[in-house]
Amino acid sequence: MLTTDSTFEIKLSKTSSIESVDFDNIMFGQVFSDHLFYMDYIDGEWTRGVIEPFGPMSISPATMCIHYGQSIFEGMKAYRQPDGSVSMFRPGANISRFNLSAQRMCMPEIPEDIFMQALVELVKIDQKWVPNNENSSLYIRPFLFATDAHVGVRPSNSYRFMIFTCPVGQYYNKPVRVKIEREYTRAAIGGTGAAKAAGNYAGSLLPTKLANEKGYDQLLWTDSKTHTCIEECGTMNVAFVIDGKMIIPSPSDTILNGITRDSAIKLALDLGIEVESRTVTITELEKAAENGTLNEAFGLGTAATVSLMSTIGFDSGDYDLPDLSTWTVSSRIKKALDAVRLGTGEDKHGWNIPV
Ligand code: COI
Repeated sequence: MLTTDSTFEIKLSKTSSIESVDFDNIMFGQVFSDHLFYMDYIDGEWTRGVIEPFGPMSISPATMCIHYGQSIFEGMKAYRQPDGSVSMFRPGANISRFNLSAQRMCMPEIPEDIFMQALVELVKIDQKWVPNNENSSLYIRPFLFATDAHVGVRPSNSYRFMIFTCPVGQYYNKPVRVKIEREYTRAAIGGTGAAKAAGNYAGSLLPTKLANEKGYDQLLWTDSKTHTCIEECGTMNVAFVIDGKMIIPSPSDTILNGITRDSAIKLALDLGIEVESRTVTITELEKAAENGTLNEAFGLGTAATVSLMSTIGFDSGDYDLPDLSTWTVSSRIKKALDAVRLGTGEDKHGWNIPV
């Protein structure tokens, strides 16, 4: 079916795979909603966007993004509200960060109004895919990649912008064991660590695999120069509670400016929790672990939401965090964040955008 009363060309799917989905047991990132959005950048202009059935696409083997990694993405979420409607959480912040990533990777920005309209129309068309279960949501994945078929390193002249969505449950279904990484580096000053560039994630795979082999789930990256300061996990920003105070590494050239991180800080301050956004050293963490003041450690991300850490692997050995029943900071932040996103609490910062 084809509808035309939109800025975009809309080709609706004749079938839906939703009946085959077990919404109570969704594996993160493995189930895709019926439609996707795409829009091409050709000869210096964005062409008309298209919404069409989700499916494979055909590209040249010489497509530049495959060879030279000019590819960026975002992750955001939409939530079912108590009245059955659907709201996206802070999509404007993701759009701004996407365009910053585009600048850093020498790619064209997406006009903000078209980006927002594409999100709203796509999520509206597939709104039955937004889960209703606890800890579930519709994950939205916008991405942009170089499409020139060309061998040779230069910025591409043509690009494709796409969005697809997938119903998701939890990214981590149990508290994670993290190892402080002091040999490999995720991001260096002047590099691309603050952008959501595809290559940043590829570079993390080998060190993460090595940590997995030692029984850890994730890495806590450290700065590339001295390997003495905690940065982020790659899949999420990180925060610690030391002596009741929330301590969180500040965004930088090498630490992604996380939207969940920002939301958590604002909600923590609303809740009267003391927050320090600053450099966090391994020494400080290790001392706090030794003297019993390291109360909580958790990750913050769109996919990960608020993910608790069970163990931190220092060079000197593993530190098991205190029993989760004693964690009051992360639990209050998660509760407050859930209440806003799920529409059961006041949205005093105006973060929810209805579709
Ligand atoms: C997100 O949180 O949306 C991300 O892009 C991180 C990725 C590990 C899924």
